[in-house]
This record gives sequence, structure tokens and C-alpha cells, in this order.
Amino acid sequence: MALEKKTIKNILLGVTGGIAAYKCAELVRLIKKEGFQVKVVLTRNATRFITPLTMAVLSENKVYTGLFSADEEDQEIRHISLAHWADMIVIAPASANTVAKLAYGIADDLLSSTILAFEGEVVLAPAMNMVMIKNPVVKDNIRYLLQKGYYFIDTGKGSLACGDYGDGRMAEPAEILKFLNKRIARSHSLSNKKILITASATREPLDQVRFISNYSTGKMGFALAEAARKRGAEVILITGPTFLTDIVGVTTIRVNSAAEMREQVVSHFEKSDVFISAAAVADFRPVRQFAGKIKKEENDTIMLELGKNVDILKEAGEKKERQLLIGFAAEAEKLNENALSKLKSKNLDYIVVNDITREDSGFGTDTNKVSIINRKEEVTDLPLMSKNELAEYIFDLITSHFEQHNKGIIV
Ligand SMILES: Cc1cc2nc3c(=O)[nH]c(=O)nc-3n(C[C@H](O)[C@H](O)[C@H](O)COP(=O)(O)O)c2cc1C
Repeated sequence: MALEKKTIKNILLGVTGGIAAYKCAELVRLIKKEGFQVKVVLTRNATRFITPLTMAVLSENKVYTGLFSADEEDQEIRHISLAHWADMIVIAPASANTVAKLAYGIADDLLSSTILAFEGEVVLAPAMNMVMIKNPVVKDNIRYLLQKGYYFIDTGKGSLACGDYGDGRMAEPAEILKFLNKRIARSHSLSNKKILITASATREPLDQVRFISNYSTGKMGFALAEAARKRGAEVILITGPTFLTDIVGVTTIRVNSAAEMREQVVSHFEKSDVFISAAAVADFRPVRQFAGKIKKEENDTIMLELGKNVDILKEAGEKKERQLLIGFAAEAEKLNENALSKLKSKNLDYIVVNDITREDSGFGTDTNKVSIINRKEEVTDLPLMSKNELAEYIFDLITSHFEQHNKGIIV
């Protein structure tokens, strides 16, 4: 772990109001023992369960309990300076209240304000009564935060402080530390890699105001770019038009047509280690682009002649040397059969197959239900998951591919 700790040094521990707050004393001790610096933020309610003094002694740092300093001379804007200081934030225990506040972007205390001002990974270890954790609102909030890229450590089954037995007990400190170490190791797993990703649909102009396109929104490609960035890779994201905003730390190149996308892919492909084509590139474009705006007064019918666009992924497959190539196939029938033939004809390493007939998968959804096929024709059927979770899965696959490659298992 020596290498990883060079970059993740500072862990901010947020503690909220629940009985499990007593366990965070042990958690601080364990995190410190691993060689990290720890600062602790207690919510006002958390101070009813554990004292700031205990946490200050264990963390060997000042403990923060409010947005404002009692000292009027103190000009520090705490939520901003803590967000800058932290490399990772862990909330343990995370109360239903704080989970809800994060889901709604409420920033009415130091912990929630710091999180909104923080750009790194946030890990939550919830703890609550077994009925609370099953409450549909709590479940929705957790699901929503998972989609937004927050990480959750599952609650364990066991005796709860309220006397009930069931799901809702906070994970043990050693388990939380294990999770953090895993995340930290991941955060550098691709630090020397260049990842090229395409996203969203292309627009093929008919005239100056109209175009042919498809329903792709870019959510999958952006989730992949974010996951790659979190693992320390240098990421170039080439995207068609989308409402999604640039991701901090990712070089985002915005294009319109398939031809523009191709031009950008060609100029970045050679230096890339991985190319993931998640864009829904138009296969055809109008051969002739009308000047100005096609007038309905002048035309009862219009003949459109469509020409084939260059297949960007196939072209990459022909040129590939060391690059790992991953394609997405949006299929409505004979999913695996069609995807496998794409994998072969385009010389891909993996193909991710989407069933576009499902409502919870494919264009515009926050979730995906896919299978992944490799060059050995092995098919892995994955359960329905958020696009962020799928992005993580794909990068686990890529990381293990490179590890095996380095060991000479894959050549
Ligand atoms: C004895 C006691 C134990 C509690 N345990 C929990 C708990 O485990 N999980 C939880 O979500 N809320 C628990 N609560 C309720 C929270 O303290 C309450 O929702 C509070 O608003 C949380 O505030 P915070 O998120 O700002 O810390 C408990 C309350 C009391 C009085």
C-alpha cells in the first residue's frame, strides 16, 4: 500500500447522531494506525453520543462541530478549508437524516456543507434501526446517492442498540477500514494509463437547423469517464451534444457529427491505452446538407440520400496495437449473437451488450442491464445496476486485464 498512501493522506471522518458513534473512536484509531491523517467533524447531534474531546485525543487533531468558530478573530471558512484538506470523506455512522440531506443537497451544518464543497470520494457507513433502513424513502435516498457516485458500506445483520435484531447495524470499524483501503488502492490502479472514451449521440445535419440523431444522452460515457478519473487515469472524453456538464479532471471535447467525433478519436487514439466507445454514433448521414433551412412552402416531399459514416470503432480495431478496445452494442434481438459478431468484426477485447427493449436499460436511463463478452466468447450476465456501478465493474475488468497482462497471463 506504500504507493497509494502518497496521494491519499488526509481522511475526514464525519460522525452523525446515532448510538454507533461510539464505534468511530475505534475507527479513528485504526485509520491513524494505517498512517493517514484524520480530522473529525461531529454533527451537533453526534456530540450527544461521543465527545469532541475523545475524538480530538484519538485523531491528534482539532475536532470540528459547527460551521462557525466561537473565536470572532478566526476567519477560516471551515467547510471550504476542510474540503480542500481532505482526500477522502467517510461518514460513520451515517444517519438517515444526513443521508437525506446529502440526497437533497441540503447544506445546513458543517458536515453537509463540506461534502457539497468536496470533489473527492465520499463513503458512507449507515447505521439505523431495521425499520428505518428498510423505509422506502431511506432506500430511495441511498439508491439516488449511489447513482451520484457516493459509496455505501452495507449494514450488517446483528443486534441493534434499540433491541431489535436485523439489518441496520453499522459495519465494524475493521470492515470500514478494509473498504477504504480497497477504494484507495483502486484510486491509483490506472494512474499511468490514458483512457479515451466517447459518449452520447452524434448529430448529422440535414440543413442548418435540423439533424438526424438518436436518444443516447451520454450518461454511460460520463459515468465511465468519472470512474476512470477516480482511478487516477488521464481521461479524454469525446462527447456528442448532451446536457451533462464537464467532469473536473477530465479533458472533455464536445463535437456534433460522427465525422467530428472520428477526427478527435483519430487524433487521440494512438497515445491511448484504452478506448471505450460508449457513444451512439450515427451509422448514416445525409449525403447532401441543404443550405439554410429547408422550406416547407417549396417542397411537398424531400428525398434524403444517406451515406454511410466511417465506423470509428472498427477503424480503431484495424489500427490497434497495444490498445484495449471496448465497445457497446445496443441490441433489440439475438443480443449475444449480434454482439459477438461485432466483437469479432471490429477486433474488440470486450463488448458490453445492452438490451434496448428493456425500460430500465439503454438510452437515457440511470440503470443498465448488460452482459459482457470477451474474446474467448465468455459471456458474463450482470444484474441490473446503476450506470456508475457498471462503470466501476468495467474498470475492475480493465484493471485486472492489465494486471494479468503484466504477469504475462494475457499477451
Ligand atoms: C438514542 C438515539 C439513537 C439514535 N440512533 C440513530 C441511528 O442509529 N440512526 C439514525 O439514522 N438516527 C438515529 N437517531 C436519530 C438521529 O439522532 C436524528 O435523526 C438526528 O436528527 C440525526 O442528526 P444528524 O444527522 O445531524 O447527526 C437516534 C436518536 C437517538 C435519541
